[in-house]
Amino acid sequence: SFIFVHVNLILNNLHYMNLAVIGSGGREHSICYKLKQSKKVKKLICIPGNAGTQKIAKNIKEDLSNFKSILKVLRENNIDIVIVGPEQPLVDGIADYLIKENIRVFGPSKFASKLEGSKSFMKNLCKKHNIPTAKFGIFDELDAALKFVRENGVPIVVKADGLAAGKGVSICKNFGEAKVKISEIINGKFESSNKVVLEEFLDGEELSYFSIVDKNSYKFFGSAQDHKRVGEGDTGPNTGGMGAYSPAEILNDNLEKKIKSKIIDPTLTAMKELGQSYTGFLYAGLMIKKNEPYLIEYNIRMGDPECQVIMTRLNSDLCEIIDAATKNNLNNIEIKWIADSSITVVLCAKGYPGKYLKNSEIQNIPKVISDKNNQVFHAGTYEKNNKIYSNGGRVLNITSVGKNIIEARDKCLSNLKKINWIDGFYRKDIGWRAISKK
Ligand code: AMP
Ligand code: GLY
Repeated sequence: SFIFVHVNLILNNLHYMNLAVIGSGGREHSICYKLKQSKKVKKLICIPGNAGTQKIAKNIKEDLSNFKSILKVLRENNIDIVIVGPEQPLVDGIADYLIKENIRVFGPSKFASKLEGSKSFMKNLCKKHNIPTAKFGIFDELDAALKFVRENGVPIVVKADGLAAGKGVSICKNFGEAKVKISEIINGKFESSNKVVLEEFLDGEELSYFSIVDKNSYKFFGSAQDHKRVGEGDTGPNTGGMGAYSPAEILNDNLEKKIKSKIIDPTLTAMKELGQSYTGFLYAGLMIKKNEPYLIEYNIRMGDPECQVIMTRLNSDLCEIIDAATKNNLNNIEIKWIADSSITVVLCAKGYPGKYLKNSEIQNIPKVISDKNNQVFHAGTYEKNNKIYSNGGRVLNITSVGKNIIEARDKCLSNLKKINWIDGFYRKDIGWRAISKK
């Protein structure tokens, strides 16, 4: 036993694992940030990464649809585990491809990724297993779809069946608007699918509930509330997310029990019954009505920007957690969280989610002192001659931790004021629902 203890001591203090993170958003920067704190991590690469990940990992540019060249990079760098951040490569089957090549991957298979990649797959699974969700119909033909709208009334939610980068959902307040949105989808606006999913409008408060899943068990991986609309007061068109905070104060023990027993458990069991065990992060987008959860959507990955607030509250070694998950050993580890609140505000390029300018210089980012309570996670940025430039719609995620949400928000907004970017904008009211209840 002396030798055993000794070997463990040595392993615990040695940097011996090489990890790769796939993606280039604030989500991936925050994952790299957390991995970098682990004593177990020797080498960290990010494919392709951004100006933020470049400071803590080695960025390697690759096209995320080219699995063969990604495999080559992983082999050249002796990577032990790959963490896939975004949905598209997962839906395209990157996990299956790399696992076949004997690479350890953290992320779901192509089949399991249909939980996000196909709303019709997800809705039919809910129906079959009595998982609470909005009433729905799936159509590929205009007349039948309009009949459903007439029968169910407005408001009605019109969704593209396939992946749509956060732009496939419209809440339609009248018949005419619904007809326009349905026609667009059926006529091929989204490459991923021509099918349209129509849903009953659920009125309530949203909650993002995260789990980390392996073949034997799953564990809670944080809660958050996202702000999807571009404008203050949650107005205007949908975006990928303008800001988030964690924990979501609406979550309580009783509600969590219902989320697990009515939604997560039956979903994971259904996937097992299909012979397609789910593994990876699982993000349940929920609507809460009178302390009852309804599933709005599944995402097969961490949320962006929710990941940024969850990583800054995680009080355990992320490398150990991912290592355990890829060995189906999650039931033997403990995942700890700090009690503090975390908030992130997304600094966007003016015009987003519509057309916006790129290659605009952002000044004074280093004026934000980074420590365990304050971080600037990068999303659409790149560096040239020691200057930072934008190359996306969502550009920086200013993230702060505080004793409570008000303290976190105040720190975050004061950090934002230090950054100088004339082509940028952000929402000043992130967290308003929780703050207004204080
Ligand atoms: P999704 O991409 O499915 O998450 O939808 C984007 C956003 O639209 C959600 O975060 C909700 O705010 C809203 N939404 C989607 N489905 C519904 C629904 N059935 N009832 C009310 N709001 C919805
Ligand atoms: N922030 C929403 C998402 O990641 O889907």
